[in-house]
Amino acid sequence: MGKDITVQKESLNVCVIGAGYVGLVTSSCLAYFGNKVTAVESNRMRLEKLQKGIIPFYEPGVEELVKKCTQTGNLEFSSDIEAAVKNSDIIFIAVGTPSQPNGEPDLSQVSQAARSIGGALDTSRKRLIINKSTVPVGSGNWVEMLITQGIEAMQAVPARGAQKTLPPFSVVSNPEFLREGTAIHDTLYPDRIVVGASDAESVETMKQLYKPILTQSFSAPEFAPRPKDFSDVQFISTDLASAEMIKYSANAFLALKISFANEIANICEKVGADARQVMKGIGLDKRIGKLFLNAGIGWGGSCFKKDIKALIEVAHEYNSSTSLLEASISVNDRQRHIPISKLQEALKIIKGRTIGLMGLAFKPNTDDLRDAPSITIAHQLLKMGALVKAYDPVANDNCFHEHPELEIVYCHDLSELATNCDALILVTEWDEFRDANWHDIAHLMKKPIIIDGRNFLSEELLTTAGFTYRGIGH
Ligand SMILES: NC(=O)c1ccc[n+]([C@@H]2O[C@H](COP(=O)([O-])OP(=O)(O)OC[C@H]3O[C@@H](n4cnc5c(N)ncnc54)[C@H](O)[C@@H]3O)[C@@H](O)[C@H]2O)c1
Repeated sequence: MGKDITVQKESLNVCVIGAGYVGLVTSSCLAYFGNKVTAVESNRMRLEKLQKGIIPFYEPGVEELVKKCTQTGNLEFSSDIEAAVKNSDIIFIAVGTPSQPNGEPDLSQVSQAARSIGGALDTSRKRLIINKSTVPVGSGNWVEMLITQGIEAMQAVPARGAQKTLPPFSVVSNPEFLREGTAIHDTLYPDRIVVGASDAESVETMKQLYKPILTQSFSAPEFAPRPKDFSDVQFISTDLASAEMIKYSANAFLALKISFANEIANICEKVGADARQVMKGIGLDKRIGKLFLNAGIGWGGSCFKKDIKALIEVAHEYNSSTSLLEASISVNDRQRHIPISKLQEALKIIKGRTIGLMGLAFKPNTDDLRDAPSITIAHQLLKMGALVKAYDPVANDNCFHEHPELEIVYCHDLSELATNCDALILVTEWDEFRDANWHDIAHLMKKPIIIDGRNFLSEELLTTAGFTYRGIGH
């Protein structure tokens, strides 16, 4: 039998499989706390970049943190999953779980990672395998089964005279709640850490691993200062299924809250109310809370839609009703068409018009375009015969490469974007848009019309600069 991992050690050997948003942030934060971390990445191009210190996506603070940790020798990148697993006490699965066309999550990356772990485990010590990927309820048990299959596949041809001894391991669920754009901050200063496990020993190991965060005993990096009055972090220990449900339910609730704000905003507009004031008025009720009540063109990103769809699939397997979950998606889909309707009201004809998209990323401070409203809006405008221009501070290149089907004229700044436009649509609320010189921008346009898809700009400022301003819900 292997050694117990709970034997107190100051630092642990950690392997993180998958160096995407979640894997890279997890790896670098754990390395920052002094653990020896190997991040395993199977995408050759991504790995080569990481090994050269180039971060393959835009996320504030990650470059600095990775640099710090590679310099201390606490973080390295590899494609050798077998060596990394053998050398580790703790193994994270942080691979992607994208949606399939039918809404079910594609778990092939998880299954491949789990089998590879099984194939690499040995009996030198007990390993803790932590699933950080967002997976449907029951996946903890499934991952355990796949790891066992991986072990058995390796042991099918034992060396002559070798005894079959199963390497000891436990699987826990540790859902991730980071937000792109503030990923390092969210990891170092989370609202809570959730761990689903079936044995007390695994829970203790998780507490040990996350002790620097739970007790806030690390010195805050200069690029991610500790928020004022931030104290100890809550550790929630549950069974596996509850941890998996917490992740899905949290995302479903956040998406639902925004869809609620949007549906109310649409009614506000009809009856002559101002959704901004209405949301302020209801958000001050502590039972409701003021965050995630901004009306606009809706949510996007890699997680909300895919996780809600996955939850709907799970519910249907159990013949459970999902009308609220389905409504949150349909309200959101509808919301993306609102800027087009507003353009039609203002311009009447869209064909032959030049429309500028301010922002492409699904939210500010990221270059992620997964399920971004900008893509739906650009598709629709192009279909209607408009000339579409776009400027995003960091996501232009991604859009060009990931959406070659979109014939967009990419611009380097807001002035270039506005030049000769019939209208602008604010899609992503980047700070630099708030501070623009609107008076000058208005003079560059054919018609100074702006649809503020995030209720982000000052209506007063824009109107004074000569714009026809249209927000959402007011
Ligand atoms: N991105 C977010 O904001 C976020 C937040 C919370 C939870 N999550 C969840 O975390 C998981 C990861 O999300 P992400 O955004 O980091 O995904 P991602 O697609 O950006 O990254 C996944 C990485 O894993 C790599 N990979 C896949 N299989 C591998 C293997 N066998 N060995 C080594 N590397 C492998 C891929 O090449 C990729 O680089 C998903 O389940 C997601 O739902 C994401």
